[in-house]
Amino acid sequence: MTDRDVEFERLTRRLSAASGMSLEVYKDKCLRRRIAVRMRACGAASYDEYLAFLDRNADELHRLQDALTINVTRFYRNPETWDALRAGPLPACWREREGALRVWSAGCASGEEPYTIAMIVAELAEQSGRPDWLRRLEIDATDVDRASLERAAAGEYRAEAFQETPPAFVTRWTVETPTGRQVRPELRRLVHVTRLDLAREQPLRPLYDLICCRNVVIYFDRPMQERLFESFAGHLSPGGLLVLGKVETLLGGARDQLTMLDTRERIYRRAA
Ligand SMILES: C[S@@+](CC[C@H](N)C(=O)[O-])C[C@H]1O[C@@H](n2cnc3c(N)ncnc32)[C@H](O)[C@@H]1O
Repeated sequence: MTDRDVEFERLTRRLSAASGMSLEVYKDKCLRRRIAVRMRACGAASYDEYLAFLDRNADELHRLQDALTINVTRFYRNPETWDALRAGPLPACWREREGALRVWSAGCASGEEPYTIAMIVAELAEQSGRPDWLRRLEIDATDVDRASLERAAAGEYRAEAFQETPPAFVTRWTVETPTGRQVRPELRRLVHVTRLDLAREQPLRPLYDLICCRNVVIYFDRPMQERLFESFAGHLSPGGLLVLGKVETLLGGARDQLTMLDTRERIYRRAA
């Protein structure tokens, strides 16, 4: 181990303790790159210098946390994935359960993903002549980043957040506000926003019918990814669906429990 590695370990241990995040599960390269950005911004030449800077500047910890939790997201992100889900797997799952879908958006950032799911199911309910089934939908929206969760709970977004969203969804399920658009209360009521650290906490419910964890595991090291995938597989109801991000692939033991439904869109299903 080089002196630099020893300093890096000292820094990440202190950061984990101060932030409450388990930094050791993140990919080393990813962590070093993000910390380097903050070090440059603070003029710190070494990890120890940066640690000293953190001790003197309380705000820097928040800025670093922001840099580590990459919160980029938008409504209907990667439209082809949502289109593929809407084309078959999701309506089938929803009908089998007569609308009583339990959904988990794991790593939901500011909420665009869970509200996208709510809009899709709301549209499905209306088009199927079962608008009353919408009330049976329950969506757990979780993330480790408190600031993002506050935005998710408010459910209000700037117009740019909807750029990829089918326009009919936007007009039907959001209302105009002075600064942008807010998701309608009947959809906001279905989304339960909760802080949950995937690195150290268990899912909120024993079983889900749809788990979306997109563009989150990419930042974790392989052992953490495998643990998480096994946890997702174990918390899916028979016939339940898992959706990962476009560049994420199922690894480890979970592959024996889940069948790939759509290779490009990373949609998996647990045997019924
Ligand atoms: C790029 S966003 C993905 C948002 C959304 N799923 C999407 O695909 O548009 C990644 C999110 O993962 C969250 N995250 C990172 N580490 C996490 C952890 N240990 N537990 C829960 N969420 C975490 C970040 O806070 C961030 O909001």
